[in-house]
Amino acid sequence: MTGNEAVNKAGNEAENAAANENTRSTVRFGQYAPASRVIVHLSDPHLLADGKRLYDALDVEANLLQALDQVERMGIVPDALVFTGDLTDLGEPDAYRRLRAHVEPAAARIGAPIVWLMGNHDERAVMRTELLGLAASDEPIDGVWDFGGLRLIGLDSTVPGWHHGELTDAQLDWLRSILATPAPLGTIVAMHHPPVPSPMPFFDILELREQDRFAEVLRGSDVRAILGGHLHYSTSGTFAGIPVSVASATCYSMNLSLPPYEVNGMFGGQSFNLVHVYEDGITHSVVPLGDHQTAATFSAEFVERMAALTPEERLEAFSRKR
Ligand SMILES: [Fe+2]
Ligand SMILES: [Fe+2]
Repeated sequence: MTGNEAVNKAGNEAENAAANENTRSTVRFGQYAPASRVIVHLSDPHLLADGKRLYDALDVEANLLQALDQVERMGIVPDALVFTGDLTDLGEPDAYRRLRAHVEPAAARIGAPIVWLMGNHDERAVMRTELLGLAASDEPIDGVWDFGGLRLIGLDSTVPGWHHGELTDAQLDWLRSILATPAPLGTIVAMHHPPVPSPMPFFDILELREQDRFAEVLRGSDVRAILGGHLHYSTSGTFAGIPVSVASATCYSMNLSLPPYEVNGMFGGQSFNLVHVYEDGITHSVVPLGDHQTAATFSAEFVERMAALTPEERLEAFSRKR
């Protein structure tokens, strides 16, 4: 998928933006206006053919469906569901078909377009034919999407046959040409290999290489955030002065509480991120997978009552210690 094809595939972003405006709260309880755009950032589902379990133990499909179910139950209409790679574990055709069969209907119900990005466990040609409905090719799967003025650039940071990451000269030239024209709400770059160091030493072998070349293209641009995956734990940092946010995996997460050289996967701690785009900033909020007991909920009547109060009355009703 080239950038232009991706723009065309994004299609109904204007309709989505309009729908979002309707569903977002118009009541302002604090100093910030509601986020103008919301992205659900998921990563590393690592699906296998025939619904097989990862390591013969982990039901990765159930975990993905759990994540989608949680998004659906939020009752929001995000601008996009962005998957930052390692969509499959082995690049098998059936794994992509199963991914498509699970995610496309959920995304349709949620009302959000899907952005699929390559990870080192994926295979470009198979992903093109089985997931994207495109002709087979081993060219990078990069793309540009426009979500009501918020530009999202997806970069394929994978190297065929390897697990580390790279961006080619052609990709960096392409990125530079896109960024030459700023977008109304700025740009988010999404990619599998995040340009941040890891406290887990072995991950640095699998890092994005020659990051200075990437930084040079980003400096001075309108890029407001970089979304990544690959690490299987939630982390954040900065790169070329730009905030970087890594979503953990939906399949399994890394147990960072082990000594650094012993860190490995654990069947817990999975999550996805909610990316809220405000006028002056972007937040990345981690949503743990799983149906945990809820402490309390607010009734619709309570919300209405709070909305009807003045800011001073609201402070009195909600902030004063009893
Ligand atoms: Fe992964
Ligand atoms: Fe990865």
